[in-house]
Formats: sequence, C-alpha cells, structure tokens
Amino acid sequence: MMAGSPEQALEQTTVRVDLAERSYDIIIGENLLLEAGTYLAPVLARPRVAIITDATVAALHLTHLQESLDAVGIENDAIIIPAGEGSKNFTQLQAVLDQLLALRIERRDTIIALGGGVVGDLAGFAAAILRRGVDFIQIPTTLLSQVDSSVGGKTAVNVSQGKNLVGAFYQPRLVLADVTALSTLPARELRAGYGEVVKYGLIDDFAFFEWLEMNGAQMLAAAPASPAVLAQAVAVSCRSKAAIVARDERETGDRALLNLGHTFAHALEAEGGYDGRILHGEAVSIGLNMAFTLSSQLGLCPSQDSARVCRHLAQMGLPTDPSQVGLSGLTADVMLEHMRQDKKVSDGQLTFILAKGIGQSFITRDVPEDAVKEMLDNALSTQPNLQKS
Ligand code: GLY
Repeated sequence: MMAGSPEQALEQTTVRVDLAERSYDIIIGENLLLEAGTYLAPVLARPRVAIITDATVAALHLTHLQESLDAVGIENDAIIIPAGEGSKNFTQLQAVLDQLLALRIERRDTIIALGGGVVGDLAGFAAAILRRGVDFIQIPTTLLSQVDSSVGGKTAVNVSQGKNLVGAFYQPRLVLADVTALSTLPARELRAGYGEVVKYGLIDDFAFFEWLEMNGAQMLAAAPASPAVLAQAVAVSCRSKAAIVARDERETGDRALLNLGHTFAHALEAEGGYDGRILHGEAVSIGLNMAFTLSSQLGLCPSQDSARVCRHLAQMGLPTDPSQVGLSGLTADVMLEHMRQDKKVSDGQLTFILAKGIGQSFITRDVPEDAVKEMLDNALSTQPNLQKS
C-alpha cells in the first residue's frame, strides 16, 4: 500500500527510522538547509561538527549550511573531496581521516555528510571508524541519496573487486532531506535518482508505482520540478525504506528486497569501472528491467507487468538495456563473473530479488543459472557494437 495520500502537498514531514537506541528522524521538506543549525542542534552531543562534502556541492550549498550552523553557535569546519564515484576509495578515506584527526574531531563531535551517495557512504564509513565511532548526520543533496543511500546506515568504499565491498552498518543520528537542493541537480542525475524511487513501487507498493506513472514526469520536469511532488515521492520512498530497515537492519532477510535490480546494476557498474559512463541509478534502471524480464521468463510474473515496468522506465528517459550506457562487448559470462562478487552470495550461490508482479517482489536463491544466462544473452545481444571500448 502507498504510505500517505499522493495528492497531499507537503511542506515538511518527518519519517522515523525505528531502531531502538539507534532510532532517528528523516526530516523532508523545502529550504531546510537554510535552517539546518536549528534542526541539528538538538541531536549534537556538543556543538562541534566537521562537514564532509565534495567540490560541486560545496560551491552550491556549503555557505548556506555553515551560515545556519554559525547562527546557532555550532563550531564547524569543512573537508572537501573531489566529486564523483572515483572518490569512494581507501585513498580518499585515508585523506579524510587524516584531516578529521588534524581537526581534532573528538568522540562527542559530529560528522556531517553534505552531498550525494559518494559523500554519504565515505563520510559515514569515516564516522564509523574514527576513534571507533563518532556521531554522524546525513544532509543528502541528490534524489538518489535522499530516497536511498542516506537512510539505513550502509556505509562503504569501493575496491577493485567491486562496489561497496568494504564498509560498515552505521546509522546516522538524523537525516535532513531538503528537496530544494534538488533544483540544482543536473537533469541526468535527477533522472538517475528516479531509478531508486520507482524501485519502492516495484518492491511492495503498486499504488505508488501507479502514482509515479501519473506524476513521475512532473518530478523530473526541468522548469521547474514540482517541490511538493518531489517531497511526496521522497517521503513515500523513505517511509518504505525505514519500514524495511526497522525490521532487518543488517540485511539478514527482508532488507535484501531493497536490492531489487542491484545485483545486475553492480555488475554493470563494475564493468564500467566507475568512470562516470554509467550512473548508479541508470544501472539500477537496467537492473530493474532485467529482474522483471527474468521473472517473466521464469513464468513468475505476467509479461504485461514486465513490459509495463520497461515502458515506464523508458518513458522517464532511463536506460533499460546495457547498449544504452556504452558498455559494448559485455557478455553474459563477464556479467555473471561480476555478479559472483555480490554481497548476497551465500555458499557460493547467488541470491535474486524477483517479482510475481509490480509491487510483489520476493527473495530467492532458487534460480537456475541457465535461465539467468539466457536472459543476459538476450539483453546483451541488443548491443550495437561488440568491440570493447
Ligand atoms: N540500498 C540498499 C539498502 O540500503 O539496503
């Protein structure tokens, strides 16, 4: 069921992530950055923070954040990393930790992640290990991070063997999702974030998927996207994620549903070498299409549903097969090799998130590899260029 009325215009809403002593709020609304100090002050153990952000976000939002912290007497310093997935590695983690130590960030201080998924994952991991753990707060500035990566406490860096393979579960103390920040996002990034939004409809919320079919275009409209519609979509997505995280924080069961499409997506991203050719949300869009195609090929899901998913993603301008993201020469065997590094592999066997229909996803390990290979062969045979670039 869809959480909340889709039509309701929404100025500010709070979603609680219920995790006993690690519970926290996600505050969603417009112009929150300008008042960030007021929202942050009550959750700080002492009024001292280090902001970790990237160069692009710093130019757009850092001054506003620092002014709002200064206004309420929160001492602050900023650490600025290069923008892009390439920063999510051990080298950058070490550089950030060195700077945090140089700033003498103490155990009762707080690290703020201001930015998208890369900043959030890196800053969160740094917070998890600095002095064996200091508090941290997420201020996500991309659609993808507002609806997914800033919520639920997954932190990580990428390694050569794959994405997010080294990290920690470490919950933030607060998430501040300011949808006004989305107005400065490049259209491609906003669209890529939509891949994670639509995922929530596909997992268990058919009404939300229908609402997105009606309202998705308004969310992504260039001039200007509707803040109320964006806020509503972020709130529904966060409620959905919060509910799943609350019942399975460490992904021993249901949380794996949030990885619908992601085993395929991570394989595509690994093949792309995280070089910016393919954004995470674009890979997720292709992965969602693959998960529904596989489900329908296995006779689990009506083919009308998988066609409807593919149609909606395409209508929103998202890629649905690898040929659209410049991964030429990719084979099913190479994809499967990447997929074997997936964190959900258990006893050497892949775990799949499949669907009985839109909003009816489920976790299974019972998928014959031949069927996966067949689906991948079909999906990859549409590639126009068989030479590796
Ligand atoms: N992005 C998937 C999860 O947080 O579990």
